Amino acid sequence: MNVSIPNGYPNAQPFATATYPGLKDKVVLNTGAGSGIGRAMAHAFARHGAKLMLLDIDATGLEQTKTELLAAYPGVDVDSVLASITDDVAVENACADTEARFGRIDILLNNAGISMNKPSLKLTPADWRRTIDVDLSGVFYCSQAAAKRMDHQGSGVILSTASIWGLSTSANRLAYCVAKAGVVSLTKCLAAEWAPKRIRANAICPGYTQTALMEDLMRRQVINGAELCSKTPMNRLGQPEEMAEIALYLASDAAAFITGHAMVADGGWLANGY
Ligand SMILES: NC(=O)c1ccc[n+]([C@@H]2O[C@H](COP(=O)([O-])OP(=O)(O)OC[C@H]3O[C@@H](n4cnc5c(N)ncnc54)[C@H](O)[C@@H]3O)[C@@H](O)[C@H]2O)c1
Repeated sequence: MNVSIPNGYPNAQPFATATYPGLKDKVVLNTGAGSGIGRAMAHAFARHGAKLMLLDIDATGLEQTKTELLAAYPGVDVDSVLASITDDVAVENACADTEARFGRIDILLNNAGISMNKPSLKLTPADWRRTIDVDLSGVFYCSQAAAKRMDHQGSGVILSTASIWGLSTSANRLAYCVAKAGVVSLTKCLAAEWAPKRIRANAICPGYTQTALMEDLMRRQVINGAELCSKTPMNRLGQPEEMAEIALYLASDAAAFITGHAMVADGGWLANGY
C-alpha cells in the first residue's frame, strides 16, 4: 500500500555516496535486514563488495532484500537466516552459521527493532517486555555472540541502531526511550571494555526516517508526518540510505579511532530542543 506523504513534504535530494575500499570482502551480520534501514544498509555494504548474512523474523522481507541484492550487485555473496534476536540460542546459532558460511564476522549491524508508542498508564507488562526484549536484550545477545568471534579474530566492529529517543525523552514512548537509552549505554560500556580487543562499538541515532515502521505509525495516525516535519529544522524525514551512509563510515577504517560514540542524524531535531 502506498502511503501519501503530507503536502509540502520535501523529499531528500539524491546525494553522492562515499566509497570505502576497505569494506570489500568484510563479513557483515545485518539484523533487521528485511526492511527499512537494515535493507538500505545491506545495499550499501553489498555495493562495497562485503559478504552479507541477513537476519530477520520476516521471511518475505528477507527474501526480498536478498533478491534485490543479487539483482543489483552481480556476484554478491549473500545468505540469510530466519531468527529472532530475542532468542539468545537462535542468535548464537546465527553467528555460528555466519562463521561456518563465511569464516568470520567482521561487522555486526545491530539494527532490528520495533516501535512502542503508548501512554505509560496503558503500557502493559507484555508491551514493556517485548520492547525491552527486542530493542535492548536482542542487541546484547547479538553483540556478545558476535564479539566472541571478533575476540578470536582480534578485530571487529559493532554498530547498533539506537534513536534520537536514546538521547532524549518523550511522553508516550517510555519503553522505547528506555530501551534505546540502554543501547547507547551498552554501546559505551562495550566500547570501553572491548577496545583492548580491537573491537569498536558505536551507535547510530536516527531521527524520524521514512521506513515501513514510520509509514505504519503514520497510517495508524499514531504520529503525524506533517507535524514531525514542521518540528524538524530541515523540514523533512530522514532517508534509510542516509543512515546506511553513516554505517559505512563508522564500520570503515576511516573511523578507526571512533568508539563509544552515538552519532545523530536527525535533520536538527535534537538541536531544536525536542
Ligand atoms: N524509522 C525511524 O524513524 C527510526 C528512527 C530511529 C531509530 N529507528 C530504529 O532503526 C531500526 C530499524 O528501523 P526501521 O525504521 O528500518 O524499521 P522496519 O520496521 O522497517 O524494519 C525493522 C526490521 O526489524 C525486523 N525485526 C523486528 N523484530 C525482530 C526480531 N525480534 N528479530 C529479528 N528481526 C526483527 C523486522 O521484521 C523488520 O524487517 C530500529 O532499531 C528502529 O528502532 C528507526
